[in-house]
Amino acid sequence: MDANSFIPQIEPWITDDELSEITAVIKSTFITENTKTEEFEELFRKYTGAKHVIAYSNGSMALFGALYALGIGQGNEVIVPDLTFVASPNAVILAGAKPVFCDVDPKTLQTTRALIEAKITPATKAIMPVHLYGNAVAMDEIMDLAREKGLVVIEDGAEAVGTKYKGKHVSTIGDIGILSFYGNKTMTTAEGGLILTDSDELAEKSIRFKNCGRLTKGTFIHDEIGHNFRITDLHSAIGVAQFKKLPEILKLKMHIYETYKSLMPNVKFYGPSDGVEMTPWFTNIRVEDPEALSEHLRAKNIGTRRLFYPMHKQPCYQGLDYFEGEFPGSLDAYEHGLSLPSSVTLTGDQLKYITDSINDFLEG
Ligand SMILES: Cc1ncc(COP(=O)(O)O)c(C=O)c1O
Repeated sequence: MDANSFIPQIEPWITDDELSEITAVIKSTFITENTKTEEFEELFRKYTGAKHVIAYSNGSMALFGALYALGIGQGNEVIVPDLTFVASPNAVILAGAKPVFCDVDPKTLQTTRALIEAKITPATKAIMPVHLYGNAVAMDEIMDLAREKGLVVIEDGAEAVGTKYKGKHVSTIGDIGILSFYGNKTMTTAEGGLILTDSDELAEKSIRFKNCGRLTKGTFIHDEIGHNFRITDLHSAIGVAQFKKLPEILKLKMHIYETYKSLMPNVKFYGPSDGVEMTPWFTNIRVEDPEALSEHLRAKNIGTRRLFYPMHKQPCYQGLDYFEGEFPGSLDAYEHGLSLPSSVTLTGDQLKYITDSINDFLEG
């Protein structure tokens, strides 16, 4: 191991496989959304069991498309966890609706039925559970709540490709769900996302919305107003190459998590929740002072990342009426959580170096 080389918190695993797939698309000269994207969608249809899988330009716009398909807009409230990436609530805002934030369980980092239920009002139309860091929300209780209250469910599985809840891939349990393939995700297309649904009607709306109101390209009579949130075959080519590595990636993600645990027996780790087959997108630990540990590791050329800055503290939402009450769960996660290097390219020597450095700090 080169002692001077920086270990990033996360990096994608890109090899000649992606290059070969992209080269083939370039040589075909058809580089916008076409047959490679259909192949990518088909791989995910088979893998997740969703009836419909629709590629989008990224996970954020897939969330926007899912909200549009469900008819969510002005006057509607959507319940979103306070601990997430801003894309989840911002998609709700883009749709013209109001995000209403609920807390998360600080032990699992996921939201729960009780925390969501406390935020339901007569204007609530939907719940957006977010499967955070590759763990999953207990979907049984969320679906029961949604049925009892007549709400729809949009699963944000951006961080949870490969994660299953009670045997079902996340984002196939609610009415509609999304996955993200941003460069730091479990597998990547550089930028890219998918909508998953079993509903023919929601699938058709999702396709029209991203394709200028049409079901197929090449026609210039538009029955509906839509936009362009299409992916490209260049991105799908990366996705097809990455998909072939997915079984290996999932094994390596779990191996990294288990190795950290075995080499740091006195450290508290987050996840997995009951009934979840987790893909630890990031391996996260809970410590007294994550900033001090992060600085200690930075000096040793080891990259880390604090957990998400809670939405109720975000400067961009100050003065807006999205928040009611306290958020002790998300605050605890932010004040104590730290994401360790989690790339599948990590070597055994690097894992040993990282864990020795953390143990030294905690015991020092
Ligand atoms: C929870 C969550 N939702 C949505 C997104 C948006 O996905 P994308 O970056 O592909 O737009 C991300 C990540 O980037 C995310 O972490």
